[in-house]
Amino acid sequence: MKIIKWSLKTLASLSLFCLIFGQSFANSNTKADILKRLEPVGKVFIAKEQPQIKQQESNKIPVKSVASEKPSKVSGKAIYADNCQLCHTTGVANSPILGNKQQWAPRITQGMDKLIEHAIKGYNAMPPKGGCIKCTDEDIAAAVKYMVNKSK
Ligand code: HEC
Repeated sequence: MKIIKWSLKTLASLSLFCLIFGQSFANSNTKADILKRLEPVGKVFIAKEQPQIKQQESNKIPVKSVASEKPSKVSGKAIYADNCQLCHTTGVANSPILGNKQQWAPRITQGMDKLIEHAIKGYNAMPPKGGCIKCTDEDIAAAVKYMVNKSK
């Protein structure tokens, strides 16, 4: 009888143990479930943030392009007036005069790229960038286009 009582006790404690163990096992399952449920939440946040970042970037782009368009629109004539007309209105050192089609025709046949390159790097008595240190390559290109358009 003692053995039966003992085995009943052991069985009872074993089943208790199994219950507890089973519960903790079940708990870990629910934790995993929670983690799984959290995952898509995290993904939703990332998905929400990305378009926001893209929107911010796309908002910036037009602002930048507007800012970079402004000086190139202004420059052509202004760059010429500030840095080129000194020589190119009077023909200093045989510089081709603005509006003189005869003088410009053979130069224009070189193509715009060559003319701009000569204006940026310098060409004989023509100083690099017409001596304008501040001018960007774009500024000079705009001035050359202005000069060529006025001299065709
Ligand atoms: C110090 C006088 C001087 C200034 C300032 C000057 N130029 Fe000239 N430029 C010349 C002379 C001289 C030539 C002719 C060079 C030659 O053909 O030997 C010339 C030629 C050119 C040509 C023709 C190049 C070619 O390949 O035929 C261009 C384009 C030109 N200048 C653009 C400019 C621009 C743009 C500016 C202002 C940013 C400028 N120049 C300022 C003196 C000047």
